[in-house]
Amino acid sequence: MTPLTLVEALHLGKHRLTSDTARLDAEVLLAFVLQKDRTYLYTWPEKQLSAEQSQQFLELIQQRQLGHPVAHLTGQREFWGLNLTVNRHTLIPRPDTEVLVEVALEKLQGLQHPKVLDMGTGSGAIICAIKSERPDSEATALDFQLEALAIAQQNAKQFNLDIQFIHSNWFNAIANQTFDLIVSNPPYIEEQDPHLSQGDVRFEPITALTAGMSGLDDIQHLIKAAKSHLNDQAWLILEHGYNQEASVQALFSEHGYQQIQTVKDYQQNARVTLGQWLQTPETNR
Ligand SMILES: C[S@@+](CC[C@H](N)C(=O)[O-])C[C@H]1O[C@@H](n2cnc3c(N)ncnc32)[C@H](O)[C@@H]1O
Repeated sequence: MTPLTLVEALHLGKHRLTSDTARLDAEVLLAFVLQKDRTYLYTWPEKQLSAEQSQQFLELIQQRQLGHPVAHLTGQREFWGLNLTVNRHTLIPRPDTEVLVEVALEKLQGLQHPKVLDMGTGSGAIICAIKSERPDSEATALDFQLEALAIAQQNAKQFNLDIQFIHSNWFNAIANQTFDLIVSNPPYIEEQDPHLSQGDVRFEPITALTAGMSGLDDIQHLIKAAKSHLNDQAWLILEHGYNQEASVQALFSEHGYQQIQTVKDYQQNARVTLGQWLQTPETNR
């Protein structure tokens, strides 16, 4: 086979892929093969791939054609400027989750050495982003999947972030601990959602995605259980589905949270709802 130039490889990759993001996918995979960033591809379009590089690129394109997520093929996904390691045991961090990080950082303003907890940390995306911006925070993260925790730990180490990771089914292993901020991007997809058999999610752990028939089982549990783990005036910030705003707000309200509000993601979908916990003699914990 005649060695491909970068521009030829990109052209070929783009035309073999049917995904909506064919061009971007081909760029990311080619840059991965070359261990360069994507700008390199356009700076040196006539540069030739070696035979091994061509072979590796074509194999990756073939895997992508079969539906494997780009992040699984490269083992990486950028989130909040951090190049995180991901694998089939972790959710692939989504850009919209950066909205949750923005809201969390805003709520941490003015607090010194705040205690922060990330529930269901997966690759550690959220807690690594927060800790990278707030090195003074006392950061804790948990997940019930040991394989995911191992990746999260690896990510924190890679970025030299001091985070405590705990293996726990939600709050079970941290019964007596309280925090100034609790964040979570929990599973929130309905069990019967037809999207589960389409695209990248087919390759992600089902335990990271679904939460009962309504998708609200874990959110409901977290809103109720978090009350015993929030310090006075602490915030609970949850990501949820674009169509769950009213239900999630109602759950926050039913459990006595204050200042409940929902924030939209970059596509203008309701994505994050938060509420503040005030300890008063009346609050029913
Ligand atoms: C939607 S993923 C979010 C992962 C990561 N925080 C992110 O935003 O990319 C949900 C995570 O919650 C974890 N999880 C689900 N049920 C759990 C439970 N009962 N206790 C602890 N973690 C749980 C899953 O293993 C998964 O890592």
